[in-house]
Amino acid sequence: MAVSDSNGMKDIVALCKRRGIIYPSSEIYGGFANTWDYGPYGVLLKNNVKAAWWETMVKHRSDIVGLDSAILMNPKVWEASGHVTAFTDPMVDCKQCKRRFKADDIVDDPSTSRTSGTGRRCPECKGELTDAQQFNLMFQTNVGPVASENVTYLRPETAQGIFVNFKNVLDSTRVKLPFGIAQIGKAFRNEITPGNFTFRTLEFEQCELEYFVEPEKAEESFKYWVKEREKWYHTFGINSAKLRIKAHDKSDLAHYALSVSDVEYEFPFGWSELEGIANRGDYDLTQHAKFSGQTIDYTDDEGKKLVPYVIEPSGGIDRATLAFLVDAYVKEQVSRSAGQQVSEGNEERILLRLHPKLAPIKAAILPLVKKEPVVEIAKKLYEELRKEFFVEYDESGTVGKRYRRQDEIGTPYCFTIDFESVDDEAVTVRDRDSMEQERIPISSVADFLRKKLQ
Ligand code: GAP
Repeated sequence: MAVSDSNGMKDIVALCKRRGIIYPSSEIYGGFANTWDYGPYGVLLKNNVKAAWWETMVKHRSDIVGLDSAILMNPKVWEASGHVTAFTDPMVDCKQCKRRFKADDIVDDPSTSRTSGTGRRCPECKGELTDAQQFNLMFQTNVGPVASENVTYLRPETAQGIFVNFKNVLDSTRVKLPFGIAQIGKAFRNEITPGNFTFRTLEFEQCELEYFVEPEKAEESFKYWVKEREKWYHTFGINSAKLRIKAHDKSDLAHYALSVSDVEYEFPFGWSELEGIANRGDYDLTQHAKFSGQTIDYTDDEGKKLVPYVIEPSGGIDRATLAFLVDAYVKEQVSRSAGQQVSEGNEERILLRLHPKLAPIKAAILPLVKKEPVVEIAKKLYEELRKEFFVEYDESGTVGKRYRRQDEIGTPYCFTIDFESVDDEAVTVRDRDSMEQERIPISSVADFLRKKLQ
C-alpha cells in the first residue's frame, strides 16, 4: 500500500468544504476574511478535541477545577493585565498595493535596498511601505446606548477571567497549592496578518490552564507542563516527529512572562506554534490586586501569606483541531488485501486517520444489499448504537463508495450486514486504516466500540 502525505493545505481545505467539516464563513455574501464555520462533522470533531482537553486537564485531575467566565469584562481588567498598553503589534501598510503587514515580518531585501536605499519593501509588490505604527489587537466595543461611553473589549485571551476569579475559587472550594483553574472559551484578536486556514483567525477558541504554585516551585512545574502538553498532542494521534518544543529567548518574551516554551507542529506551511507554556510569575495576581484595591493572596497551612506564581499552558482549540486534521490526512493507493471479504477495488482513497476519540462519527452501519431482512437487522443495530455513539446508517450506492465517504470523514469502523448475518447473527467490521475485515457477533458490536473508545 503506497502511502503519501498531504501535498499541502489546499487538499485539506477542499476536503473540509466537500465533507462538511469547515466552510468559509458568510460564503453566500462572498465570505468574510479569516472567519470560518464548522459544519456538521467539524463541530463534532471540535467538540471531541475540547472533550479530550477537558478530560485530561480537569476530569482526570484532582488538583484542577474548571471555570467558564464572561467574554465581556470590566475594562479595568485589560488595563491591569497590560493589554491596553502592551497588546500591540507594529504595523506597516504598502503605499502601492495597500496590503498590511506586521513590521516584524518584513525582512530586508538586498535587491531593493540597492535601488531604493531601503531594504524594507512590500513583500508582495516591492512597493514602498509606511512607517510602522503600533496597532492594538483588541476588538473594542461599547456597552449601552451612548457609543462614546462604556468602552470595553472582546477578550483577547481567556486567562484574565481566571485571574479575576482566583479569590472566588479560593473562597468557594477546597483547593490548595499547587492547583489549577482551567477554561475553554472564545477569544478575539484583530490580527494584522491572519491566515493559513484556521491557523490564525480573528475569532477562535482557547484552552487555558492557570496552574498556581509556590514561587520556588515554578520552574520545576513549568518543565513538567511543557512535557505534559507535548504528550497530549501525541496521545491523541499526532506523529511525534512532527512535534517539537521551542524555548523563547529571554529578549522575545511577552510583557508578563518570565519564561516561555512553545509546542510546535510541522504544518505544510512550516513549523508553527500550537501552544505556549509560560511562567507568568506573580504578574497577573499582583496587577489585579493593585488595580482593584483588593487583597489577592494565598494563606498556607502555617498561616504564611504569599502570592503564588502561575504556570500557563495556553493552547488553541481551532489550531489543535487543524493539526489533528493535517496530521490525519492521507492519500493512498488501495489494493485488495487478503483479509477482505468485500473487495475495495484498486483506486486512490483519501482518509483521515483520526484518533477514534476525535473522529466525528465512530461507526457506519452499511447493509450490503437493500433487501429484507438485511435492512431490518442493519437498522436495528443502528438504532441501538446511536443511543450511545455518533453513528451513521448508509444504504446508498456501492459499498466501495460508502467506505470512501466514511474514510474521508475519518470514521474508524464500518459494520456491514449481509444475508449471512441472518443465520450467523454476525457482522463484518472493517478497519479504516488497515482495511482489514473480521467477523464479530452483532451482540458484541457496542462493546467492541466501547473498548476502542476507551
Ligand atoms: N494567555 C496567553 C495567550 O493567550 P498566546 O500565545 O497569545 O498566549 C495562546 O495564545 C494560543 O492561542 C496560541 O498558542 C494559539 O494556539 C491560540 N491562538 C492565539 N491567537 C490565535 C489566532 N489568532 N487564531 C487562532 N488561534 C490563536
